[in-house]
Amino acid sequence: MYVLGISCYYHDSSAALLKNGIIVAAAQEERFTRKKHDASFPINAIKYCLKTQKITINEISHIGFYEKPLLKFERVLSQNLETFPKSFGTFLSSMPSWINEKLRTIKTIRKMLKYQGDVLFVEHHLAHAASSFLVSPFTEAAILTVDGVGEWTTTTYGYGKNNNIELIKEIKFPSSLGLLYSTITAYLGFSVNNSEYKVMGLSSYGNMNKNINEYYKKLKQVIDIKEDGSFRLDMDYFIFHYANKMPSKKLCKLLGNQIRKPESEITKNHKDVAAALQIITEEVLTKILNHVYKKIKCKNIVLAGGVALNSVYNGKILKNTSFKKIWIQPDAGDGGTSIGVASYIYHTILGNKRNYVLKNAYLGPEYSAKQIKSFLDKNNIEYSEFKYDNYVIGWFHLGMEWGPRALGARSILSNPCNPQMQEILNQKVKHREKFRPFAPVVCEDDASKYFECDNPIPKPTGYMLMVYPVIKKWHKKIPAVTHIDGSGRLQTIRRDQNNLYYDLIKEFGKLSSIPILINTSFNIRGEPIVCTPYDAYKCMMGTEIDYLVMGKFLIKREDNPKDIWNSEKYAKD
Ligand SMILES: [Fe+2]
Repeated sequence: MYVLGISCYYHDSSAALLKNGIIVAAAQEERFTRKKHDASFPINAIKYCLKTQKITINEISHIGFYEKPLLKFERVLSQNLETFPKSFGTFLSSMPSWINEKLRTIKTIRKMLKYQGDVLFVEHHLAHAASSFLVSPFTEAAILTVDGVGEWTTTTYGYGKNNNIELIKEIKFPSSLGLLYSTITAYLGFSVNNSEYKVMGLSSYGNMNKNINEYYKKLKQVIDIKEDGSFRLDMDYFIFHYANKMPSKKLCKLLGNQIRKPESEITKNHKDVAAALQIITEEVLTKILNHVYKKIKCKNIVLAGGVALNSVYNGKILKNTSFKKIWIQPDAGDGGTSIGVASYIYHTILGNKRNYVLKNAYLGPEYSAKQIKSFLDKNNIEYSEFKYDNYVIGWFHLGMEWGPRALGARSILSNPCNPQMQEILNQKVKHREKFRPFAPVVCEDDASKYFECDNPIPKPTGYMLMVYPVIKKWHKKIPAVTHIDGSGRLQTIRRDQNNLYYDLIKEFGKLSSIPILINTSFNIRGEPIVCTPYDAYKCMMGTEIDYLVMGKFLIKREDNPKDIWNSEKYAKD
């Protein structure tokens, strides 16, 4: 039995295919259309899913959609009425997409796919909860979902047991931790639903001591936090409930500045605002989690929703709460809900026993050696099969990763011991802002030697969802992956997840005496991670990546025509 999950029309459209409860394919639409965060109907991702199983659409017994559009529309109408006439402009501009697209989801699915079977809608936070719990290693767990907003809900907690999920409590729009984070992201001049992770990275440069950070007290005026972690936003500080922008004039006044112009200088004040936001986010989440622990009395916790991508906080959860084990799936944001809705239909609605745990993220398109070779030959690209040196390497193997992180299938790898490496990667390849750190990958069996991880190492560490301190004596030995605050957003890898990648890291360890590599996503700033051999080759030729390893082929940039394009001017937020 096949079940297809779809998420689209907000941001990060995706599709996921389950065969008898096992995820056999999943990918985000942006990787095919090459438009970052593409929200359109994920026709390419769906075609890819069907192709992997060599099936047609009518062999799918159920298609699931990641939210209930009518319920969401009700919220949009009610928020527009409440804030009328301020909301009128946004209301008018948002209506065509509701009328033509979002309220016609069933019709679109049937028409675009020529599909005659069942279409089911699952509430957004239930889809989030399912996306994490039903593919987790736990038979029982407490569940916390936190995002911007679903239909009405912005935060829920509950309980999962076997194939059932019960969400007990919720916080509703407009009070939203995700939207608070996005508002400050907008205030700091970064793009919403995209660059929240940059604000998280920036927070490490600010003052994380709440007694000294002057913005902490100010930001506390914006949010009222109760002991159980429930919270309310003071809506005078926001305009997202009636406009296409987020911070109000009052919020800008409170923080003492205008909205930062994109690409302009990042001051100490900006860094401290980011830090204050991170402190408050952590404070709320810790209170909620402690409350959830008291209510649910289960030692396992699973998280989902965009806020669960806050790896800086995730790494502190087991230390700050009584939970003993944690699970987050690699695409904890909205893209991940296609997995959630499909799993919810198969396991919870249809009542099938769980028989699957998500063990790796390589659910996207995979290209065989033959396919890569044929691409290289057709385009007269010089290549050889490979050797090793101190270079920047594009690493292209296996199925493309599910979720926003590169995890060794579409990665750029280099030497973390070279203190210049961060600079080289930032300036020549990634064109990123200087404050952004690079992440290390380490074999799971070596991780505790270099990082202060929880013990045993939580599974989400395999998906770069946990930030841990680098053990002090290694700070100077691996400078390129040690963040300014001494932390590292590490990926751990086991041989059964990706043997070539694992062996590569171990081999590097034999040469350098440190079995760790820099692992950064295979793209330039502002572009989705590469998908096809063409994307990978193009990325290398526009940057200063030295070698590209695709399957068993080694391509040297120098051997091939230069000046195809220059990636630098395309780098954007
Ligand atoms: Fe969401």
